[in-house]
Amino acid sequence: MNWYKGLGQSCKCREPLKRHTTLKIGGPARFFIEPRDRDQLQELLRLLRRNKISFHVLGMGSNVLVRDRGFNGAVVRLHAPGFKKITFGSNYVIAGSGVSLVRLLLGCYQEGFSGLEFLTGIPGTTGGALVMNAGIKEKCIADALESVTVMDKNGSIKTIVNKDARFSYRSSCLKKFVVLDGRFRVRRRPRLLIKKRMDELRAWRHRNQDYSFPSAGCVFKNPVNDSAGRLIDACGLKGVIIGGAAVSLLHANFIVNRGKASAADVLKLMLLMKTQVKRRFSITLTPEIEIWR
Ligand code: FAD
Ligand code: EPU
Repeated sequence: MNWYKGLGQSCKCREPLKRHTTLKIGGPARFFIEPRDRDQLQELLRLLRRNKISFHVLGMGSNVLVRDRGFNGAVVRLHAPGFKKITFGSNYVIAGSGVSLVRLLLGCYQEGFSGLEFLTGIPGTTGGALVMNAGIKEKCIADALESVTVMDKNGSIKTIVNKDARFSYRSSCLKKFVVLDGRFRVRRRPRLLIKKRMDELRAWRHRNQDYSFPSAGCVFKNPVNDSAGRLIDACGLKGVIIGGAAVSLLHANFIVNRGKASAADVLKLMLLMKTQVKRRFSITLTPEIEIWR
């Protein structure tokens, strides 16, 4: 009997991950599972452990590069309605980890709640943004977070308060859990002002970052007190093409998929960027995107 039989429609085999990443790259996941709710997620984690199957949780796939041969384990995506609830309180909002940041920001705007506008233009889910501590230069999602609910690999649910989540630049300790939801501080503000801020940020992004081709945003982290984009640009790499992948003409830390890029093309381009920056500036760039093997 298949180990996943009890999960019914929630499990697919050999699902191409290029369908689920913003780079539109990635071979198949051996198992691709979208649990219905927390109970089914709990059952799933138990089955994965018992059958010794390794797994990744996938959000919007906007910060991952999946290898062309795919992932020989399970990919768990919290995409069912049970993981997409948004609850507003008097000065807080609780968002399920499957809620996209776009929907969360729209919901806050509609309710007249301010505090998360700085996330405008980041195409992830709440869960992915928490794990990555997503943000901009001035602010990151941790700055607005009160607490996060997680399930550990044994299926136990617990609440982690902000200071225990070990947030730092594009990092947290949440990766070792399955994030279920986050509770954020918000405050009332006229909707007109919320919209104005979001419009400004969106316009800035469209002037400075590449939204015309599939990408995963910045591929490298910024070195302390500098910008990887500036360094790669100074090496003259904008527009360089390997296979179907190119260094964006707009922002040198973005690699774009011009149509038929493979993960191998992206990895070769990343190596070139890293090598040139090292040679010219003696700075070692480290990837921001997560490479799934
Ligand atoms: P994924 O890419 O799916 O996953 C990222 C990591 O989180 C993986 O380790 C995954 O296993 C884990 N994960 C996801 N969900 C869960 C969960 N529920 N529980 C446990 N683990 C989970 N990032 C920024 O920080 N700032 C920016 O300004 C920014 N701009 C971007 C612009 C563009 C055009 C693009 C394409 C990307 C940009 N990004 C930016 C990168 C990316 O959008 C963020 O890192 C985002 O938060 C990732 O969310 P996701 O849901 O796509 O996560
Ligand atoms: N620059 C260049 N050439 C380029 C890109 C940038 O010279 O091709 C210069 C800019 O002119 C500017 C400096 O580098 O003087 C910084 O550029 P920018 O303001 O665009 O910010 P960044 O450091 O490149 C960071 C984050 C972005 C985030 C923005 C906005 C990282 C790796 N990148 O970019 O996050 O949106 O700030 O605050 O931290 C992401 O993480 O995926 C991401 C897009």
